[in-house]
Amino acid sequence: MDHFLYKNGSLHAEDVPLSDIAAEVGTPFYVYSTATLERHYKLFTEALSPLPHLVCFAIKSLSNIAVLKVLGDLGAGMDVVSGGEYRRAKAAGVPGSRIVFSGVGKTREEMRFALEGGVRQFNVESEPELRALSEVAASMGATAPIAIRINPDVDAKTHEKIATGKKENKFGIPIDRARAVYAEAARLPGIEVVGIDVHIGSQLTELEPFEQAFAKVAELTETLRADGHIIRRLDLGGGLGIPYTRSNEAPPLPLDYGAMIKRTVGHLGCEIEIEPGRLISGNAGLLVSSVIYLKQGEGRDFLIVDAAMNDLARPSMYGAHHDIVPVTEPAPATAAQEFDVVGPVCETGDTFARHRPLTPLGEGDLVAFRSAGAYGAVMASEYNTRPLIPEVLVKGDQFAVIRARPSFDEILNRDTIPTWM
Ligand code: LLP
Repeated sequence: MDHFLYKNGSLHAEDVPLSDIAAEVGTPFYVYSTATLERHYKLFTEALSPLPHLVCFAIKSLSNIAVLKVLGDLGAGMDVVSGGEYRRAKAAGVPGSRIVFSGVGKTREEMRFALEGGVRQFNVESEPELRALSEVAASMGATAPIAIRINPDVDAKTHEKIATGKKENKFGIPIDRARAVYAEAARLPGIEVVGIDVHIGSQLTELEPFEQAFAKVAELTETLRADGHIIRRLDLGGGLGIPYTRSNEAPPLPLDYGAMIKRTVGHLGCEIEIEPGRLISGNAGLLVSSVIYLKQGEGRDFLIVDAAMNDLARPSMYGAHHDIVPVTEPAPATAAQEFDVVGPVCETGDTFARHRPLTPLGEGDLVAFRSAGAYGAVMASEYNTRPLIPEVLVKGDQFAVIRARPSFDEILNRDTIPTWM
């Protein structure tokens, strides 16, 4: 459920007409709903209660500091994968004790920075990383709390580019090596083992792969405890999928996911961490764009909009579907017209949808791409020297620009001409 609904014939974000934002901010822009973000976060905390738990928002899905503050103020933890994301979490006021540092290639500088600022735990992904962390922590006279990310070799049944839990993926330590690596961790200076971490992929639309992976984690917990390790936390990753179409998709709900967690690992007495990104942010955001031209092609009509693949990369990168809806509510029983919806970037890949049935649209009309909160703004680039588009946050009847559109001067001034020229 989200808070983007038609009211008085016009699509709103909560109580704000999107056309009002467009008039003030210009298109294209991203808009996020505070109420939706909060609701999605609470669904997870409710689903995991009464187990001791921390919901760590995967910042990679949507990292604007204002959004992080909405969630951080509710008590959310943050899952970060870079020194930059760590800084964002801190800037949003989230204490280090609620920041989990994940990621497959943390540098020594990033480790040092997080140890200085405070960190809940590092999710360690390889033996060389474990040794590097030990060196860094010991050199600072610090202790790094760690969970080791195990790779359970489970097929997440999702898009190949976002599956992470098969043995051929670059992530984690093969589960059959776990005992040896935990034994090494226990011997290393500056390292304190606190738990086990697993993440098998993103946009999972079935519970069964999670269940398989978590059952393996439960078994491993018992083995490692028998080996003398203190396993008091389980970090069960993110990955729960969202409906991208309003029709027939019905991925499992957070409540079902929580019940499955309780079933598989609830008896172990561990604190549970989860790292959802998309389920919290995905349907909390829209990309709003206007039609520049309607162009008649060979056997198709192109709707050329002012957003492009650099603003929302998912369709060109993963062939992802985003529902596209008119901001002005169509009259009932308006006949649909098929469009190829494309952006202005000079690549055929800059196509959002082919043969998409929409209501008739023309120049200047506003359209909204739904489910664009996750992996939208964060994956944007300035390809074709198109400025990063603004982000807007709505709460009730208020809205604020939470990242302004840069000016062309700001963009051009980042380049420098060498003095020899
Ligand atoms: N934790 C870890 C260690 C992850 O690698 C990820 C996502 C998450 C949590 C959050 O997963 P989520 O709950 O959002 O599914 N750009 C792609 C998605 C990449 C996901 C990468 N890892 C897309 O647009 O579909």
